Amino acid sequence: MDQNDYRSVPVNPEEVTPKEVYLSRRKFLKGMGMVGLGALLASCAPAISTVNESPASTEDLREALTSYDAITNYVNYYEFTTNKEGVAELAQDFVTEPWSVELSGLVENPRRFSLDELRTNFEQEERIYRMRCVEGWSMVIPWLGFPLHKLLAAVKPTPQARYVAFETALVPEQMNAAESGMFPFPYREGLRLDEAEHDLTLLATGLYGEDLPPQNGAPIRLVVPWKYGFKSSKSLVRITLVENQPPTLWNTVAPQEYGFFANVNPGVDHPRWSQATERRIGESGRRATLFMNGYAEEVMPLYEGMDLTLNY
Ligand code: MTE
Repeated sequence: MDQNDYRSVPVNPEEVTPKEVYLSRRKFLKGMGMVGLGALLASCAPAISTVNESPASTEDLREALTSYDAITNYVNYYEFTTNKEGVAELAQDFVTEPWSVELSGLVENPRRFSLDELRTNFEQEERIYRMRCVEGWSMVIPWLGFPLHKLLAAVKPTPQARYVAFETALVPEQMNAAESGMFPFPYREGLRLDEAEHDLTLLATGLYGEDLPPQNGAPIRLVVPWKYGFKSSKSLVRITLVENQPPTLWNTVAPQEYGFFANVNPGVDHPRWSQATERRIGESGRRATLFMNGYAEEVMPLYEGMDLTLNY
């Protein structure tokens, strides 16, 4: 895909997901009063006909949802283990109730929200997003959640707030590798405030119509679909509005390898491997990585005038 062509590539799983599976899931979600796929495509992607003009994009429309089994058994959650296939078992007893998320820092109304409040005060919607890990694999995941901007609006960032810092749970008694010394936990991430307020930025509480399992970041995690997966912090406990760019775990341990922005960019390689292609879990072979993971049309206004090869 030409990087100057910012048209978005919507995920359209209805085309390829086995019909019975897809329809029964839609019925279930409708029954729960969830916002459906039609609304999603209307709100964050252009009409498919626009996208179909490009042959490359047409091919990319054929994207199946990654299976629930793969999404929940091939995961990165380093507080438990660095073995992707071992997380689900080690995390199965992770206690997520009671849970709350504290919002503080440069806000007018600092406040702690219980999980119940987060679930009931903010309408949960389904968002089907690509997820591209910096390691070179990807998935298509149907999340449940709500846009982070709704929560930020509730606490009212002050004019000094320019960044948002995220901190995730650190419970050594329940997380095998929390004190291994391999990483400076707690896991910290950050976004610029305008990125955090972008409508695509999601706080996810579920996937495939069910509550998040522990290994995927229960009970609430961040999802930033145009950035490499490591920006999407799991099991959030604290969100702090700050003035200056906050330190982040990966940027601290290897700044030359993991930039603060971490926007998916097939034109900017990781120092140790190419980012031009990716392995879609469940598919054979590799597919081209999309600029901004296919969300360029929505997010490029955030980066006007920025050199994305320097700000990687
Ligand atoms: N959040 C925490 N707290 N700990 C982690 O190790 N791994 C990150 C991110 N969030 C991670 C985390 C990485 S590297 C990726 S690719 C995604 O979670 C993976 O999300 P998934 O396992 O649900 O697909």
